[in-house]
Amino acid sequence: MVNRRPLIAGNWKMNKTISEARDFAARFLENTADITGLDILICAPFTNLPVLKEELEESIVHIGAQNMHYETKGAYTGEISPLMLKELACTYVIIGHSERREYFKEDDEIIAKKVKAALENGITPILCVGENLSLREAGKAQDFVRGQVEKDLAGLTAAELSRIVVAYEPIWAIGTGKTASAQDAQQMCAAIRSTVADMAGSAAQEMRILYGGSAKSGNIAELMAQPDIDGGLIGGSSLDVQEFTQLIQNAR
Ligand code: PGA
Repeated sequence: MVNRRPLIAGNWKMNKTISEARDFAARFLENTADITGLDILICAPFTNLPVLKEELEESIVHIGAQNMHYETKGAYTGEISPLMLKELACTYVIIGHSERREYFKEDDEIIAKKVKAALENGITPILCVGENLSLREAGKAQDFVRGQVEKDLAGLTAAELSRIVVAYEPIWAIGTGKTASAQDAQQMCAAIRSTVADMAGSAAQEMRILYGGSAKSGNIAELMAQPDIDGGLIGGSSLDVQEFTQLIQNAR
């Protein structure tokens, strides 16, 4: 039985100015100083990364980004590269969030390149997958999510697959206040693990799988009690220091 270290990852999305991020970091540090037994991560807007590096680099709190380009440099106006993220102490990057897939037209081919680039640059990718409401209602959710996992992780070695994080985020649960039931979330996370097992055998047991979608301090414990859920990707509830701290305490 593999002992996977739990991970609670905040996804700030397009929220917080630099001064708000600095204020959050200072107060969050006081609250989390003596927390052990799980990894804590904040994925912030690019503009906040220098100040988070300053405030958090020496702490137990990891820093991550919410997107990146797959090339290390070049003529890609407006983009940020893995090398730039590494310089800012980012150890994680969210890849393929449903908002990027929907609003910025990222497809599985681009997402697979980004996952690979993150691994090649020593940054842990958090690959997001998840179905929309019509797929769920049509009973096609599991086939769809399995397909995303197969396409987005194609060509990776077992060693690489054991290092990545997958976040299952049903689109209908993101920012809506509707959480998937712990049983439904578990079922899908188990399906994700079995898809990776088909690709890479026992590496799937080492890979961490998070649930995301209206996770909060009040429901995180039940979600994480499920055998295939190793943590949470937290949007709205990561923006408030008190709520995020409470969520982390309840997750332990
Ligand atoms: P939410 O967002 O917690 O606000 O639902 C989760 C996410 O989109 O990562």
